[in-house]
Amino acid sequence: MKILKISGWAVLIILIISQFTRPDKNNAGDVAFESFLAETKPPQEVKEILFSSCFNCHSDHTVYPWYNAITPINYWLNDNILDGKEDLNFSQWTNYSTAKKDDKLAEIMKAVEEKEMPITSYTWMHQEADLGHDQIREIIYWATQLRFEYSLKPNTQ
Ligand code: HEC
Repeated sequence: MKILKISGWAVLIILIISQFTRPDKNNAGDVAFESFLAETKPPQEVKEILFSSCFNCHSDHTVYPWYNAITPINYWLNDNILDGKEDLNFSQWTNYSTAKKDDKLAEIMKAVEEKEMPITSYTWMHQEADLGHDQIREIIYWATQLRFEYSLKPNTQ
């Protein structure tokens, strides 16, 4: 029993001390979306979906939930953001080549259609981010149109 009590205190003390360490925030501000929105001009419904369901992990700006104040939850959220941005960062969109944009749009269509995105741990906490049938269709329609527009442009590498 004594061992249990001591290790309980040890865990508590480690948790309290760890609250003083936290990862850097991903908060570039509105500028994070400007170039992407200017280039792709998504309709209002698609824009709303991207803001509520995708940008938090796929751009340079995250709107954090309150529990991001808790270590180690913040490290776990930060890992998701870094992994998400590595695959797809809308803030870097205009730096992607036309071929890469086309690949990413194809991946986006597949990811929403197969309900791989947004990831389940996100929709647990943000139920409004879970995409309905109509929203999936809107994303696919927008992405298809955009791919067609890019296909008319010479490949910028
Ligand atoms: C909570 C964070 C989070 C949210 C929200 C999120 N993603 Fe992701 N996304 C990730 C992570 C992490 C990866 C990389 C690992 C993986 O594939 O699970 C990823 C990978 C991807 C990829 C790369 C290919 C693939 O399917 O693995 C695409 C495309 C993508 N996400 C699109 C989206 C779209 C579109 C949305 C919004 C509808 C979205 N994501 C919402 C975290 C997120």
